[in-house]
Amino acid sequence: MNYLKKQDLKVYQAVKNEEKRQREGIELIASENYASPAVREALGSVFTNKYSEGYPGRRYYGGQEYTDVVEKLAIERAKKLFDAEHVNVQPLSGAPANMIAYNAVLEPGDKILGMNLSHGGHLTHGHPATFSAEIYNFVSYKTEKDGKIDYAKLEKLATKEKPKLILAGFSAYTRQLNYRKFSAIAKKAKSISMIDIAHIAGLIAGKAVSNPVPYFDIVTTTTHKTLRGPRGGMIMCKEKYAKAIDKAAFPGFQGGPHMNNIAAKTVAFGEALRPDFKKYAMQIIKNAKVLEKELKKYGFKIMFGGTDNHMLLIDVFGSKGITGKEAEVALDKAGLTVNKNVIPDDSRNPMDPSGIRIGTPAVTTRRMKEKEMVIIADWINQAVEKSKNEKELKNIKKEVTRFCRNFPIY
Ligand SMILES: Cc1ncc(COP(=O)(O)O)c(C=O)c1O
Repeated sequence: MNYLKKQDLKVYQAVKNEEKRQREGIELIASENYASPAVREALGSVFTNKYSEGYPGRRYYGGQEYTDVVEKLAIERAKKLFDAEHVNVQPLSGAPANMIAYNAVLEPGDKILGMNLSHGGHLTHGHPATFSAEIYNFVSYKTEKDGKIDYAKLEKLATKEKPKLILAGFSAYTRQLNYRKFSAIAKKAKSISMIDIAHIAGLIAGKAVSNPVPYFDIVTTTTHKTLRGPRGGMIMCKEKYAKAIDKAAFPGFQGGPHMNNIAAKTVAFGEALRPDFKKYAMQIIKNAKVLEKELKKYGFKIMFGGTDNHMLLIDVFGSKGITGKEAEVALDKAGLTVNKNVIPDDSRNPMDPSGIRIGTPAVTTRRMKEKEMVIIADWINQAVEKSKNEKELKNIKKEVTRFCRNFPIY
């Protein structure tokens, strides 16, 4: 950091302040995590200087001896982690990975059947403001009152709509999906099956939840959430779709891959292959279950009936009378970072919805366990109940900062 400090004090200071914010607060945003120093070292490496359009062994520029080493290694490790037939590690992030996957197998106007956005689906699964929604025709399925998907209903919908692609996966859904049923429904409807595992990739890699990769034709993911790598995307698929996916990534959608990012993904996959990552992934879920139990005790309404993964969606408006935005602001002041979130069929607007989403991947990286989750749940409850009391929020923040000193990030 010596160079940055000397050369650009403003950026240096912002980095230092962000470091402090991350260190002194409790990070409960379900899609965030702390990448390891080794991952960040690879990310900041000289690979950032290199152009390597194409794929290992068939690039458009010279000087690829070492880029090929890391990209091949990334693919090999990802295959091992997820039991995938084919892997493309070049997508720059999760949204481009989905766009590439759609482009690889669909024509403009084709129909995609995905999870309704207020029921947990991601923006790239059909939000009208996205490019993909301009190009493709999205229809959606929902969860039921018990928080589960009714697969008989989904089958009927698929038979009626005849989508070219059936999409599973989510950003704010907490229950285990039935992969076999998704796959069978897609086969029956003669649809391509795709799943976006951006949120749960680390839980899958750590074998804390079952692996959907063998059941789906195409699997997209991010690498920076539970998987704890650098910000980035990845696509896995059956051999049958390999050529189409690679062509859609480059030259179809992207230019030169970010080799520094691929090097960092490779390091993260190496970490995820280690036995201690299994313990980490299991602990993420254990921690989420404790938060669920404790928050229920305080009268919070947990959507979908609870959680099987790393996150909870909470109806704070329905249970505590404050909006998701108000809760997010109050919690922030108390040193607990969460995000406001719509709940299924939310009557409020997305900028000030009824819910908040909280997740345990980042706190688990800091080695917080069940005991700490009980304390965090208490702080969440206090901050929400005393959301208008600035002094109380400040007091909680002081306690949070003190508490965080015992849990260094790395
Ligand atoms: C399920 C899912 N897919 C895709 C994305 C998009 O990823 P990115 O922000 O890396 O583009 C997200 C991000 O939150 C996500 O949750």
